[in-house]
Amino acid sequence: MTNECFIFTFSYSTNHISPTKKDKLIKLLLDVDTGIDDALALFYLAHAQQKGQIEILGSSTVGGNVEVGQTTQNTLKIWEMLELDIPVASGAEKPLMVPLNTAPFVHGDDGLGNTFLPAPEKKPSEESATEMILRLSRKYSGELTLLTTAPLTNIAVALLQDPGLAKRIRKVVIMGGAVFTGNVSAVAEANIANDPEAARIVFRSGMEMTLVGLDVTHEVYWEEEDLRALVKIANERSGFLLQIIDFISSAYESLSGWKRCVLHDPLAAGVCLFPDLVKTEKRYVDVELTGELTRGMTVVDRRGRTPLGEENMLVALEVDAERFKTQLMESLLAWARVG
Ligand code: RIB
Ligand code: CA
Repeated sequence: MTNECFIFTFSYSTNHISPTKKDKLIKLLLDVDTGIDDALALFYLAHAQQKGQIEILGSSTVGGNVEVGQTTQNTLKIWEMLELDIPVASGAEKPLMVPLNTAPFVHGDDGLGNTFLPAPEKKPSEESATEMILRLSRKYSGELTLLTTAPLTNIAVALLQDPGLAKRIRKVVIMGGAVFTGNVSAVAEANIANDPEAARIVFRSGMEMTLVGLDVTHEVYWEEEDLRALVKIANERSGFLLQIIDFISSAYESLSGWKRCVLHDPLAAGVCLFPDLVKTEKRYVDVELTGELTRGMTVVDRRGRTPLGEENMLVALEVDAERFKTQLMESLLAWARVG
């Protein structure tokens, strides 16, 4: 695919929705480290907004898959492709206590499969990620759903600045952690392991949280045969989507032996709209900070009667993978077909 500037004329907006219906919409704030699967989640959410299911109020970015300057540019670029004027507030460059650990091997040096897209027209918001999170939580107190698909640094900083944030957020859906597995280590998942101190602050905040971890996201993936409908469209848009999907699938193949695009962040986005996509247990969850082999591990206490502490979050353990894979593909096809 050449690097000419993409002119996408597809518009997902909420202008056409009646005011009363708009009040019923899920009001969403995202915290992302766009990356390839974060980008796929944005396509899914844009389609949900176009169908009148949600209202995306803002997006904040953090260093994670790549540096925060790049995750910010990537998020601006994806919203531009979707012709959505959603504010993007840039956040933490690095975790609270340790250096940032990026993943260019998995997401590309540019965070979008080395597609090296032209720079976005729009600039990031003047306000920081923390300022956006606190401002929107006050404006929509009790109404805001927060989706995090990245290290939890921005959320932790916001909580440290204003602990009252915890009472103003309706619910948080976190892509992160795992009960029985890991990806950056035998027992730790990237978003949590990148900033375990931040994760502990968020986990102990008292917010209504759902943890969408590797136990379910590893069940939700596309392989070659799942992509036939996208291949059939054969235009610039489907080409872009197939290129980023192929990049992350090839990286996964080198790491695991399976050529799969694992849909971590899109699934967490799906759970914001359709909580019944996953089966959950209410459990006490904390984060290991000091273990030589286990730092960044989410410790999930499933002993029932004598947990380490009061159950603080819903932990996803089963998923309706086929239902979500179909939903997400529909969103990508809806965008690609208008190309
Ligand atoms: O472990 C998967 C998570 O880490 C996803 O959010 C991916 O984008 C990376 O940030
Ligand atoms: Ca991510």
